[in-house]
Amino acid sequence: MKDRGIDGKRKAWVWAACFCGAVFALLAAQTCFAADISTASSVRFNIVCAKCHEGECSGRLSFDLGRAAAESHIERYAGKVSPLTRQELYKLLEYMKRECRYYPFDAAVPANRKREAGTLQKLYDEAEHAYFIPLGKLSPGSYRIDLCFDREAGVSAELISSRFEIEDFSGVKVTGAVASIAFRVKSEGEYYIRMLVIRPALLRYLEVVPLH
Ligand code: HEC
Repeated sequence: MKDRGIDGKRKAWVWAACFCGAVFALLAAQTCFAADISTASSVRFNIVCAKCHEGECSGRLSFDLGRAAAESHIERYAGKVSPLTRQELYKLLEYMKRECRYYPFDAAVPANRKREAGTLQKLYDEAEHAYFIPLGKLSPGSYRIDLCFDREAGVSAELISSRFEIEDFSGVKVTGAVASIAFRVKSEGEYYIRMLVIRPALLRYLEVVPLH
């Protein structure tokens, strides 16, 4: 009888340890989540999927489509992508719905707000001929974006706030290898530029210049 009591206690400890382990594993998975998704998938999501899913902040996925239908839905818009990319795109919608913001990229905004070809390449989606570039935190005021392409280019660009609002220069077209776009920021916050390169060309340089 007594022995069984000790056995029971031991079992209880084992269960408690397993439970704590599982909780820690879940917490770790939750924290790791933010570092897991590649910049390429984030860029693709913000260019292709956000057209329809931008600013969906319902807190969680509805799962109305079911997993298999969701997978073919993703493939329809993302094209033939690897299972890993498909998985990442799925997670990105989950993230947007839960956190109500763009997924943080590892391509941090440099203090001088100048971007060179190497970083810009990572923020380019070749299939869509489009860039999604975080500009960082901007205070209210006027700014200019200087762009330099490897050849004559035509672009159409949008300035987007972290609340998914299109703030300025929607559909402005710029032609020439060197170009500038002027825009105004009304309230302080994180901003992004989504830019469609109409005539294929690669961005070599981008700088955000405050105009005071
Ligand atoms: C033309 C508009 C459109 C585009 C582009 C689009 N979707 Fe959707 N998507 C929808 C609609 C409509 C639904 C069904 C309603 C909902 O759940 O939002 C949906 C549903 C989903 C769901 C299931 C949502 C849930 O709550 O269970 C996932 C996951 C999803 N889309 C991912 C993506 C990804 C990833 C991309 C980009 C590769 C993408 N979608 C591109 C319109 C679009």
